[in-house]
Amino acid sequence: MDKEAIYTTFKDTFGIPDVSVFAPGRANIIGEHTDYNDGFVLPFAINHGVWFYARRNTSDKLSIIARDTGEQTVIDLHRPSNPVFGWDRFFMQVLQAMSGHTIKGADIVFGGDLPIGAGISSSSAITCGFVRVLDLLHDLGLGSEEIVNTAITAERGSGVRGGIMDQYTIVNGVKNKAILLDCSTNSHSFIDLDLGQHQLYLINTRVKHNLVHTDYNNRRAQCEEAVSLLQQHYRPVMALRDLRVDELYKIEKLLPDTLFNRASFVIQENQRVLDAVEAIRLKNFAQLGELLYASHDGLSQMYDVSCEELDWLVNFTLDHDDFLGARMMGGGFGGCTINLTTGILDYNTVSDIEKKYEDRFGIKPDIMMVLCEDGILNKGQ
Ligand code: GLA
Repeated sequence: MDKEAIYTTFKDTFGIPDVSVFAPGRANIIGEHTDYNDGFVLPFAINHGVWFYARRNTSDKLSIIARDTGEQTVIDLHRPSNPVFGWDRFFMQVLQAMSGHTIKGADIVFGGDLPIGAGISSSSAITCGFVRVLDLLHDLGLGSEEIVNTAITAERGSGVRGGIMDQYTIVNGVKNKAILLDCSTNSHSFIDLDLGQHQLYLINTRVKHNLVHTDYNNRRAQCEEAVSLLQQHYRPVMALRDLRVDELYKIEKLLPDTLFNRASFVIQENQRVLDAVEAIRLKNFAQLGELLYASHDGLSQMYDVSCEELDWLVNFTLDHDDFLGARMMGGGFGGCTINLTTGILDYNTVSDIEKKYEDRFGIKPDIMMVLCEDGILNKGQ
């Protein structure tokens, strides 16, 4: 759904809005499953996201319309219920996370063009966007850190022990810049994303395998276990981030095979992020592409968070000159791949991927070019 349609619904239902917020989705060039290991990530806010329009009302109720599905919910601020499924749970979780503030009644319409469950942070966009809506409606003056932390607290209610990458990017993104985020200090520098003719594409497998939450939390627990063993038998590291690639041969004998695989993926992936930043600075896109493929190999073979559909899409690109690199993006087990191409993909390439993927998996993938956009706090409201 586009911005105008959402605005029109608001105007026709409630009148002129007091505030508007655009919360983008996020893509990640490289640095997967590194954020909760205090490592590096290289994400950016994308040109697809969720728009919110809101206006204060005089009741003690939030009246919320999800424009994409046409559903409407009314939340009594004195007696909030606790939905477990559906989009309204994100709103409830934010209200809980903001229980220290006095929240008053409002009318809200939201909607957008982010595919749900595609690993491009549609839920974080809703959560961060709603925090910002409440911030603006109540003149709370929340800074970036408060919005990010409130959204993270709210999303913890979903049971996933996620990292900080998604919310940080959605809030702090800047047009045409990737964010080199150091998750040990939660500080960043911006990297000019000047790709020349090259483009970044997301290809959505349109599958999301079960156990995403369980497996994600399990990987995180395995990394913590590896750290704990290394603290006892090697040296006092705080996180996998504190280890270098040249130490891998030393820790190999100290960890069970699976934990060594997990740890070595994370240690190498951190280095790949730094190498990718260098490749972007030098405009060495062939090198950047190789790093994406290496990241995918690690995610698939050592971290074991890929799936058949993701592997198929990455493998497909290997024989195509239009592609310099590809890898699964986000938590894994479905969702999207991110692809570095030499230019805008022509019609034949797009239909070739669509057709062969559909022949193989019985479902058509979504192929979309992504641009680097402003995050919530940098968008002209
Ligand atoms: C999900 C989480 C992020 C990050 C990625 C994997 O998107 O929300 O914090 O851990 O998976 O890199």
